[in-house]
Amino acid sequence: MKDDVTREDRVSNLKGLGCSRKRVEDARFTQGKGNYIDDMQMAGMLTGDFVRSPYAHARIKSINIDAAMALDGVIAVLTAKDLEPLGLHWMPTLAGDKQMVLADGKVLFQGQEVAFVVAKDRYIASDAVELVEVEYEELPVLVDPFKSMQSDVVLREDLDPKAPGAHGPRKHHNHIFTWEVGDEAGTNAVIDDADIVAEASMYYHRTHPCPLEPCGCVASMDKVNGKLTLWGTFQAPHVVRTVASLLSGIEEHNIRVVSPDIGGGFGNKVGVYPGYICSIVASIVTGVPVKWVEDRMENLMSTAFARDYWMKGKISATKEGKITGLHCHVTADHGAFDACADPTKFPAGFMNICTGSYDIPIAYLGVDGVYTNKAPGGVSYRCSFRVTEAVYFIERMIEVLAIEMNMDAAELRRINFIKKEQFPYNSALGWEYDSGDYHTAWDKALKAVDYDGLRREQAERVAAFKRGETRTIMGIGLSFFTEIVGAGPVKNCDILGMGMFDSCEIRIHPTGSAVARLGTISQGQGHATTFAQILASEIGISADSITIEEGDTDTAPYGLGTYGSRSTPVAGAAAAMVGRKIRAKAQMIAAYLLEVHDDDVEFDVDRFVVKGAPERFKTMGEIAYAAYNQAIPGLEPGLEAVSYYDPPNMTYPFGAYVCVMDIDVDTGVPTIKRFYALDDCGTRINPMVIEGQIHGGLTEALAVALGQEIAYDDMGNCKTGTLMDFFLPTAWEVPNYETDFTVTPSPHHPIGAKGVGESPHVGGVPCFSNAVQDAFRPFGNRHTNMPHDHWRIWKTANDLGLHD
Ligand code: CDP
Repeated sequence: MKDDVTREDRVSNLKGLGCSRKRVEDARFTQGKGNYIDDMQMAGMLTGDFVRSPYAHARIKSINIDAAMALDGVIAVLTAKDLEPLGLHWMPTLAGDKQMVLADGKVLFQGQEVAFVVAKDRYIASDAVELVEVEYEELPVLVDPFKSMQSDVVLREDLDPKAPGAHGPRKHHNHIFTWEVGDEAGTNAVIDDADIVAEASMYYHRTHPCPLEPCGCVASMDKVNGKLTLWGTFQAPHVVRTVASLLSGIEEHNIRVVSPDIGGGFGNKVGVYPGYICSIVASIVTGVPVKWVEDRMENLMSTAFARDYWMKGKISATKEGKITGLHCHVTADHGAFDACADPTKFPAGFMNICTGSYDIPIAYLGVDGVYTNKAPGGVSYRCSFRVTEAVYFIERMIEVLAIEMNMDAAELRRINFIKKEQFPYNSALGWEYDSGDYHTAWDKALKAVDYDGLRREQAERVAAFKRGETRTIMGIGLSFFTEIVGAGPVKNCDILGMGMFDSCEIRIHPTGSAVARLGTISQGQGHATTFAQILASEIGISADSITIEEGDTDTAPYGLGTYGSRSTPVAGAAAAMVGRKIRAKAQMIAAYLLEVHDDDVEFDVDRFVVKGAPERFKTMGEIAYAAYNQAIPGLEPGLEAVSYYDPPNMTYPFGAYVCVMDIDVDTGVPTIKRFYALDDCGTRINPMVIEGQIHGGLTEALAVALGQEIAYDDMGNCKTGTLMDFFLPTAWEVPNYETDFTVTPSPHHPIGAKGVGESPHVGGVPCFSNAVQDAFRPFGNRHTNMPHDHWRIWKTANDLGLHD
């Protein structure tokens, strides 16, 4: 057959790997046609709203619902007593703890769910919330994990203080777990003997992912068919279905969970919240759909927080700057219940990646989890299970070591990077880094920003400041990070016993277009665009002809969802593998149609051609048609496949960031003059989507480093429960980001891709923070804690005598 389309055109028509294809989702989103939870309207639908505790720690003496029930339009008010006969007044958490669904005898944090009002509409429900009378008896409040570990006050009276917790023995009634990795005695010995030792204590403050859309759901129990449907803002819909089945006793085939469009997740929508359970119960009781959507304050005050790690480090080195050992201890404030969203075997997530990008021969990490009177959670806010904390820790330790040695921090990093030829690299704390070329990335970054020139400029500025010619100082923030994304493998990683694989199913239609479904769920990452590109390159059908569907458990194959940048490393791999299954069958069909042996045809962009005779070929469109319409001996009709992918390892993207910042010492206002971000996420599927991910992640990093915080007073009052107090950056604060890349493919991923969505956040936070700290380094600063808001920056300047 003659073909007048050039090969180049065929590649371009495919819109496969490497193409900056426009996001197919955006036509919907930019026209206001998204379908979010609060858009849902159903006949007879009721609304639920919570009565929440104003106290951080109090005994509940009584709850009177009479006045609320008397309000016209109120259908029910649920309390723990109503849930108890169903065994639903407490629920298991992802961390092996249990959490009250509605306050059972006492409350443990401000904003805790006490009663659930169900009414005809949201306004009536809110009015009725005000009418529920709860009598509280205040109890002593513990918001400091160190004091909590010393206190006689028992926070969790439901737990036997002598019994072990989910992760071994507990040292105190407010202690949750101790997790240790590495060789403590060996590390201490190395540090004791070292030429140079630097120490630092740092607090990675509590913050919150604060997605644009808060959490919510609609539960609808069809009592006739015994089928429960739950629409919700779920980052892991299949896991929610399994948990809902285990908790409710409803058989799993009778539960359908649907994640519609989700307005950002960033880890906030991984866990299971009381609102979901109460909505399900309310729908079962009333027989009509029940909607619950939290407001902004409820989201910030009661759903999963992030960080809250008190980290203490010691790092040792030779006189030449070669790091010899690293010791890290963390006191982790988990709030009232241990509801961290981590794989079961990792109670402190992937904190043991805290040796970072450096070849550190010996290390130790110890983490103690502690209960306090704060909201539960502990999610990986745009990071993979505590890697943000780990990278912040090591990137600060490097800076502190550089100060101790009076050495350039860029050079110190270079001396200690894991070398290209050391990959796959086994870290002292148990990880196998798949691939990396850190020196190339670092050199490229430093050259791009003219690092030496920047240091000269900084020295001139310091001199000018000291001469009284300027009140502005200059910081050069450096960070080099290694991410760890793509949980599984199943043998290491599970959530509530469910192994962390992922999946992709594809159906090629007779006319050569396709629908593919995955176990992940996009929350804005553009999966409908990029997964189609992976498939396009694998099967030779244009990405424009492939519909991607996610998030409906009745149709999508089982998967563990989207968080921790696992979609590309795991589901993206499943997509590539399913494509290869299709291609294998297509090869047999093509060979039959071309009347040659299977081995005599080869795949070329969008077709199979006879080897050595390129004019003889069958396009994927022709092959798909034949799959359904020709009786091919030895082959089943149809062209469909499914793949469940258990990754052999995680992927380890990395990056080199530089931030140039001016600081006005009299106002504490930082101005970001330049931000350069080089990312290496292996094979790049869609450079434009990657760029978008990096801009977003850096902006969230800026937020966390420079102001975003969930803060409490001594009474356990949340001081930052509204967007008036909780910093959310706008275009005003965001600089122009310069992005760059290197490509070091993952050796074990089918297309060599690593995740990217979280990298800029992981690398960005230390970079912004280091810029602030570096500006003050010439004036004697060693370490100051984030968030570096204007007040804290001003105070650092003041403490260093810069206002004298
Ligand atoms: O799991 P999540 O989707 O949040 O993160 P990800 O796997 O890092 O992917 C984020 C987006 O970037 C997706 O649309 C990916 O397909 C895209 N991406 C890419 O184009 N190339 C890569 N090497 C990695 C991700």
